[in-house]
Amino acid sequence: MPDVLTPVLTDNWGDERSWTLAAYQARGGYRALDKALAMTPDAIIEEVKESGLRGRGGAGFPTGMKWGFIPQDNPKPKYLVVNADESEPGTCKDIPLMMASPHTLLEGVIISSYAIRANKAFIYVRGEVLHVIRRVQRAVEEAYEAGLLGTDIHGSGFDLDVVVHAGAGAYICGEETALLEGLEGRRGQPRLRPPFPAVAGLYASPTVINNVESIASVPSIIEHGHQWFASMGTEKSKGFGIFSLSGHVQRPGQYEAPLGTTLRTLIDLAGGVREGHELKFWTPGGSSTPMLTAEHLDVPLDFEGVGAAGSMLGTRALQIFDDTTCVVRATLRWTEFYKHESCGKCTPCREGTWWLVQVLTALEKGQGSEADLDLLLDQCDNILGRSFCALADGAVSPIASSIQYFRDEYLAHLTNGGCPFDPAASTLFA
Ligand code: NAI
Repeated sequence: MPDVLTPVLTDNWGDERSWTLAAYQARGGYRALDKALAMTPDAIIEEVKESGLRGRGGAGFPTGMKWGFIPQDNPKPKYLVVNADESEPGTCKDIPLMMASPHTLLEGVIISSYAIRANKAFIYVRGEVLHVIRRVQRAVEEAYEAGLLGTDIHGSGFDLDVVVHAGAGAYICGEETALLEGLEGRRGQPRLRPPFPAVAGLYASPTVINNVESIASVPSIIEHGHQWFASMGTEKSKGFGIFSLSGHVQRPGQYEAPLGTTLRTLIDLAGGVREGHELKFWTPGGSSTPMLTAEHLDVPLDFEGVGAAGSMLGTRALQIFDDTTCVVRATLRWTEFYKHESCGKCTPCREGTWWLVQVLTALEKGQGSEADLDLLLDQCDNILGRSFCALADGAVSPIASSIQYFRDEYLAHLTNGGCPFDPAASTLFA
């Protein structure tokens, strides 16, 4: 397992005006599209299946298999929807990708739409990031001007229109069915699954919803072949991914590496933990994935390795916290986020996240008793797996895991009558 960077998606990020069509094509951009248009749609689906690409939005569902679920005997139109509503705390890979190289995404959109026989694709971008929306929109306009979108693309007989849609700034709209509700003009709240979008998605039609990074990985698979992609990563987690390091490291940023790389390697690449301090806890995939500690530095960052350590790979949003960080305060901040973002549709999430914040706030102030830790865990237990979508499951992840690893620190708040940490020492959550 090579522990080196594998720049594919990030390779052109340093190029001058890398986001323009001219810069992208100067590097061979849209070559994969011509190769794809000479293949049959089924052959492309097969290639993506064989590559082993798994969804990069967090869940890791096999991308080619999802495409294969689109019923081609269904007379309704098929849609491709790109989930660009990146909002998970700590997750910052899709936004820089769209800023630096929107044409990588667009090339992936055209190839993927051709494979699933969709003539309309939507890119649903998080509403707050106006600069990203403008950049992707401009790339779409350039693509139309160059005949890469519209009718009879490159003489293939394939037609595709792409719409860039701005969300309205709600974390829940990253949940795929809430995203579809938003796209259809309704309030963003999740739908019951099944039916999965592949069967009944946008306007009740077969719809593939994929994350930005998943779709952006497709051109490289078509260009270099499935064996090339599958030669990287681990047995069940193939290929490469963008790992986003944030927090207490010397050089935060995006590091593209094979799945299975360890945090130890990535922290080394990022120049180490803040000078004079030690790693205390970290998240593998944002705050919705249970936190891990310094004991887990050598866990392979792939779906199986992180799962075996009791967490989830998620979005590879590696948030690094050093010994100056109060884990109770960090957990409270995350929980406030989930309470604020709960869409209110189901009771365990709407009421549960509110109660979690009440108990955590008291504990952080050093109020209450040890029994409140059990109360908190009981609340987590009553929320986990009982909510409409994964938002509430995510909310309990930092709480349960922080108590698992740092129960003593919660108790220290009680004996100290408040937070024992100096808020000025940490640059985070102060
Ligand atoms: P999921 O595992 O339920 O579904 C993953 C994908 O596979 C979906 O597109 C779903 O439609 C499809 N799928 C699953 N079973 C299927 C079936 N039987 N037939 C057809 N399609 C099927 O996961 P979910 O709830 O969609 O997403 C949870 C993940 O989202 C978490 O792992 C978390 O890491 C991630 N997440 C990412 C965020 C971000 O900002 N990127 C924000 C919050 C969570």
